[in-house]
Amino acid sequence: DEPLRLFGKHVLVTAGPTHEPIDPVRYIANRSSGKQGFAIAAAAAEAGARVTLVAGPVHLPTPPGVDRVDVESALEMAEAVDAALPADVAVMVAAVADWRVVRSADQKLKKDGGAIAPLELTENPDILAGLAHGLRRPPLVVGFAAETQDVIRYAQAKRVRKGADWIVANDVSGDVMGGDANTVHIVMADEVVSLPEMPKGDVARALVERIADALAE
Ligand code: C5P
Repeated sequence: DEPLRLFGKHVLVTAGPTHEPIDPVRYIANRSSGKQGFAIAAAAAEAGARVTLVAGPVHLPTPPGVDRVDVESALEMAEAVDAALPADVAVMVAAVADWRVVRSADQKLKKDGGAIAPLELTENPDILAGLAHGLRRPPLVVGFAAETQDVIRYAQAKRVRKGADWIVANDVSGDVMGGDANTVHIVMADEVVSLPEMPKGDVARALVERIADALAE
């Protein structure tokens, strides 16, 4: 049997996209299936952790043993992350929308042949950066970064800027989105661990092993 290497630890995971409402039937969002984040939550639970999974709107079953909090928007996700603290580890996998509509409409907007109303946007809070720079910062904060070029260099810069301990850099130049395989580099302060392309479940288990190593140090 596998030892429960994360027993007694609380792992917080964000996953999926956020939906920023325009009106009751329309929204702004990033592409994200939630598969990688859900796989990490599952792997952490398998390793014995108490897991809080803050999930944006996705069509995925809750992994066994995981406490799931469903949210729609970035502001709701930020609140749910805050409410889940304290945590020993945070793994922020969600593809949070960068912008939201300043005043979403209560009623469906009509295309009545007239002028199209412009959408006024404002920037969403950076949930990862807020957590990493906050008073209740988990001892280990892991972010994700989807990049199509210069993957490791951009990830290293993002690691420093956001205050994360590690950035898992996702090479999305191929067919990662919604797929079942992933190619990642775990970018740490003084080391980069590059994993070969593998199923998202294997990426999750490899990352959880690293997390358990780090917490054991
Ligand atoms: O800046 P970028 O979106 O590439 O950063 C990705 C990382 O930051 C991911 O870990 C993502 O979950 C997190 N993030 C966040 N809140 C945002 C934007 C990104 O937590 N508003």
